[in-house]
Amino acid sequence: MSRLKKEIIIYDVTVDDAGAEGNAIVRLDGMVVFVPFAVPGDVIDLKLFKKKKNYAEGRVLTLKKPSHLRVEPVCGHFGTCGGCKWQMMQYEAQLHYKQQQVRDNLERLGHIDATRMQPICGSSRTLGYRNKLEFTFSNKRWLAAGDTRLADDPGAVGFHVPQVFDKVLPIEWCHLQQEPSNAIRNALRDYALEHHLPFYDIRNHKGYLRNLVIRNSSTGELMVIVIVAEERPEWLSPMMEFLKVTFPAITSLFYIVNSKLNDSYGDLQPQLYSGQGYITEQMPRLGGGEPLRFRINPKSFYQTNSEQAYKLYSVVADFAELKGGETLYDLYTGTGTIAQFVAARCSKVVGIEYVEEAIVDARANAAANGFGNCTFYAGDMAKVLTDEFVDANGRPDVVITDPPRAGMHDKVVEQLLNMETPRIVYVSCNPATQARDLALLAAKYDVGRIQPVDMFPHTHHVENVAELLLR
Ligand SMILES: C[S@@+](CC[C@H](N)C(=O)[O-])C[C@H]1O[C@@H](n2cnc3c(N)ncnc32)[C@H](O)[C@@H]1O
Repeated sequence: MSRLKKEIIIYDVTVDDAGAEGNAIVRLDGMVVFVPFAVPGDVIDLKLFKKKKNYAEGRVLTLKKPSHLRVEPVCGHFGTCGGCKWQMMQYEAQLHYKQQQVRDNLERLGHIDATRMQPICGSSRTLGYRNKLEFTFSNKRWLAAGDTRLADDPGAVGFHVPQVFDKVLPIEWCHLQQEPSNAIRNALRDYALEHHLPFYDIRNHKGYLRNLVIRNSSTGELMVIVIVAEERPEWLSPMMEFLKVTFPAITSLFYIVNSKLNDSYGDLQPQLYSGQGYITEQMPRLGGGEPLRFRINPKSFYQTNSEQAYKLYSVVADFAELKGGETLYDLYTGTGTIAQFVAARCSKVVGIEYVEEAIVDARANAAANGFGNCTFYAGDMAKVLTDEFVDANGRPDVVITDPPRAGMHDKVVEQLLNMETPRIVYVSCNPATQARDLALLAAKYDVGRIQPVDMFPHTHHVENVAELLLR
């Protein structure tokens, strides 16, 4: 992508569409221009700043006439924070463009007739819907236009600005998680500033405070994990005590010492400072009765929008068409939540997932929820899901697969084709990789029902469930 030497401004263009990575799309003489923070129907003066052969990047220089789809963003950080790029678009329009994104991917990349796609299932909650947020401390504050760095600027706690790995946008109020999320972050920030605890410098690997993770659940439990760069008992103990005393609502208070060069903590051991070692999420049980309860430890994956997770799983159960006698495989099972959601409706459930801790949780949760018919295995899918595994665990009647954004490994797709399971339910958080995998599975499978679900209002992200039937 070449940066333009000469400034190109195109006046009075109408924004056509919304698409890839949450950018709006302007079509100009066969060229597509990706424009962030614009809404289809806006009339804008467009500044081009990067150009390739048949596409370009641009930005809104002047909003001449706002689209009828525009609304006032609720968040004061809108426009700089990369988190909720579609906040300026009516929620109904967001749903429309998500549905279109799924259809375009299925048709273009998957060569699938998506006309029977069911209308996207929207989220009843469009704010405060996340049960987990991760904030970063950085010694480099992202500066808004016209803002200047102070000589003794301590940095910021908030979110990374897109494509800038070392600078953090200070967040005063994020609308994605319910309180006391903002109160905890801001109080820890103020405490750290008052006590001169340095924010981390990711370029030079200096400083102390690195990350803050806040997780809540529908049972009212609250987990807080503070991630620091080194053992410093003289700083750590008073800081953790401050959080414990100031926020009695915290039911699990952890810290992690991360002296690595990167921010990932999946391979590190969380240390419990106070409270219990997990929080509990609950979800209605299929067919009624006591809700399912899931223990979530600091490293466990759990769908970040709990209410929508229930709707998503209900679609999965519907597409699985279970009668009661089936053997079901739940691939990429995480903490076994889908497996347990459907367990009452089949005779045997086999879950596979590569995070060992998640499998430990899955086993404990299944036992606590009263399921004796669930077996879980830890390992890489491409290596675990072999002919020998299928011989040992029984041929499945139904496979549910919910891979990460990258989709399924070629070998897993190949194995699914070999297994010839009558019915597959494919859950995806990335319609592009799902479409790619469905095109490969088309060698033996027809696509039946397709149901997009919105888990992340105000972002372009969309979840999609597809039913596959063996020909
Ligand atoms: C989108 S999550 C789905 C989790 C689960 N189905 C749920 O609803 O909570 C994808 C899961 O796949 C796991 N995973 C990613 N790559 C994997 C691999 N190669 N083999 C096995 N599991 C993998 C991740 O750890 C994650 O738990």
